[in-house]
Amino acid sequence: IEKTFLMIKPDGVKRQVIGDIVDRFERRGFELKGAKLMVASREVAEAHYAEHADKPFFGELVDFITSGPVFAMVWEGESVISLARIMMGATKPSDSQPGTIRGDYAVTISENVIHGSDSAESAEREISLWFGGELA
Ligand code: GTP
Ligand code: MG
Repeated sequence: IEKTFLMIKPDGVKRQVIGDIVDRFERRGFELKGAKLMVASREVAEAHYAEHADKPFFGELVDFITSGPVFAMVWEGESVISLARIMMGATKPSDSQPGTIRGDYAVTISENVIHGSDSAESAEREISLWFGGELA
């Protein structure tokens, strides 16, 4: 059984869609294993997005993710890593389908409501980065 790291970004928290997003994953049959509302430090945000460190938008990305509280979560279930990515929708607003979280809530590539781990390796790394030993 898999675990993944999902995070409602500052725009999603501000827009008060935490409840809707949690509801979508609960209805799909996934189990919430841990959650916290927190403001990420610059250090954690940079480590989280380390794969994008050389991209032109990296500074903007870190500024945005630290600009207000995020809702960090760990979810468990069958194929939850890939299924959560499908439920989130595509990164590019022109590709995100209605019915997905981004397709329902986001029109910009930078403020796109939710993050989800993109592989088993990312999930393990991100869960330990954001939750450390808090989850057994
Ligand atoms: P995350 O779940 O947040 O990792 O999104 P993703 O996996 O769908 O996309 P990716 O990892 O490729 O990019 C990480 C984040 O960088 C995206 O969610 C966007 O918020 C941001 N991003 C990606 N491309 C651009 C861009 O061209 N401009 C800006 N400003 N932000 C971008
Ligand atoms: Mg990504």
